[in-house]
Amino acid sequence: MCGIVGYIGYRPAQAVLLNSLQRLEYRGYDSCGLALLDHAIESHRSVGRVEDLKHVLTPSPATAGIGHTRWATHGGVTEANAHPHMDCKNNIAVVHNGIIENFQALKSQLLAEGHKFRSETDTEVIAHLIEKHFDGDLERAVGFALAEIQGSYAMAVLCIGCRKLIAARKESPLVVGVGDRENFIASDVAAVLDYTDRAIYLEDGDICTLSEREISISNCGKGVSRKTCPVTWTADQVQKGGYEHFMLKEIHEGPKAIADTMSDRLSLVEPSVILEVEKLRAARGVILTACGSSYHAALLGEYLLARLCRVSARAVISSEFDEVEPVLDKDLIIAITQSGETADVLRALRKAKSAECGTLAIVNVVGSTATRICDNTMFVQAGPEVSVAATKTFMAQMISMYLLALSNSVLDPRTMATLLESMKLLPAKVNEVLLGESQIAAQAARLAKFDDAFFVARGINYPIAMEGALKLKEVSYIHAEAYAAGELKHGSFALLGPRMPVVVLAPPDETYTNIQTSIKEIKARGAPVLAVVDKSDTELEGFADDLIRVPSVHPLLYPVLNTVALQLLAYYAARARGCPIDRPANLAKSVTVA
Ligand code: G6P
Repeated sequence: MCGIVGYIGYRPAQAVLLNSLQRLEYRGYDSCGLALLDHAIESHRSVGRVEDLKHVLTPSPATAGIGHTRWATHGGVTEANAHPHMDCKNNIAVVHNGIIENFQALKSQLLAEGHKFRSETDTEVIAHLIEKHFDGDLERAVGFALAEIQGSYAMAVLCIGCRKLIAARKESPLVVGVGDRENFIASDVAAVLDYTDRAIYLEDGDICTLSEREISISNCGKGVSRKTCPVTWTADQVQKGGYEHFMLKEIHEGPKAIADTMSDRLSLVEPSVILEVEKLRAARGVILTACGSSYHAALLGEYLLARLCRVSARAVISSEFDEVEPVLDKDLIIAITQSGETADVLRALRKAKSAECGTLAIVNVVGSTATRICDNTMFVQAGPEVSVAATKTFMAQMISMYLLALSNSVLDPRTMATLLESMKLLPAKVNEVLLGESQIAAQAARLAKFDDAFFVARGINYPIAMEGALKLKEVSYIHAEAYAAGELKHGSFALLGPRMPVVVLAPPDETYTNIQTSIKEIKARGAPVLAVVDKSDTELEGFADDLIRVPSVHPLLYPVLNTVALQLLAYYAARARGCPIDRPANLAKSVTVA
């Protein structure tokens, strides 16, 4: 995690860096800082957010600098541990995202050589290593320093007397924003959308030197050329656009994310999907791997591949991938990752590659590392997502799961046609759920008074109950757990009572009768029930304490509508509790450490 930025050009660097850093706060917000290069290096750091840093700054004429927003790993959340980190003489400044695995050994060696350390971070060794190797040639010194480092990094370096930025990456994302008489670096292209629509996605091992007019890149000591790509995301997409929080804006962008992800793929001519048909058939087994919300999309995929394709698929949490590694055999590994940068997912993919499995990435971010590791990529078209809690990207991932399953399905043509027709209606149906927002807000305000909640469902909606519970925990800090309805009575019933509200997904599919029974059992133990039901449901009115009604769709598609209802429920519960919705405590959107 952590976000880094760099600028060299003609504008006052401080304003550019602050603006870009704010765009990267989703990567961490424990502390932040920047270093500005003029005749000297001026460094400012602050615990907390970029907004807090602004208060300790004075105007600066510098037109080059680097910045950092931190999610603490090595060393506590203190100003001393905030980046940038400097060498002994304050001549060299470094910002870094990643982990230097051998930093203890390097630090001991540097201390023995007389270097003075001021932080507990792994990053500080980089500044001292560059100092040790510096003989007037900054690129060479950075190259020598990197040769001693084991671990992952995206970093940027400034040095007094050298009007340039040096940036380098290995296993952490880094993008060059290409401008006219100015250039940028950033962990993510979203940071530079206000300034440019051209980007170079650096590769592992690249060392890049930037001045205002030149960008040169080397890898393993040799000059390399990298493609400049147009950026399709725009600055407007990363503004709140009148909404109080990005989370709410992004829930409302769900219908567009769904429509864009389906676009012409519904005709099933999407090349990467077609390609996967062959791979799916050739594969012995399919493993879907992901973390967090994306893992819940993987669980949906597992269900759909079994149900629609008769393919035995298994969803595996990426950090648990080691457990399946020994049995990988001609399997197809499908990684679902919004960012394409989650360290656990990338590690799983690298293992899959070394076992010669086929790999497909389902990703939202163009140029991300997962897209480079995998044989094929299917992009979800959700646009940039800023809020830490995933909403529209989760909807788009679900749609990708439906598309993948449909393109391989063994359904008879009539059933298939009905399902496809129903899918086309999804954006409008999601909009209908959004129209019920104020009622869900009132229900959420009631839920917000509790400290715990259960989410319960059966079958294809069980992953959605899991996602609903995760969303509520993430943004409202209410402790929430999800259960397959039939499992609740095997232990967790012990917790039922008036202080344990239960949110039950009760769509009119083949699980409905059993779910009704579960609701009665829950009610008999005195727990309040909020049921999410079809709008024409008449049977549950008498049993549940409260109902959220969603429009009627094909039975297999209720997960999409239920998701939106639960996202709104979590958002408004968090709002009722006064939580920092877009930046929940201790979380980061993109977890780039294992
Ligand atoms: C973090 C985020 C989650 C996200 C997960 C996986 O934990 O807070 O919202 O679902 O990472 O991220 P990915 O980018 O791989 O989908």
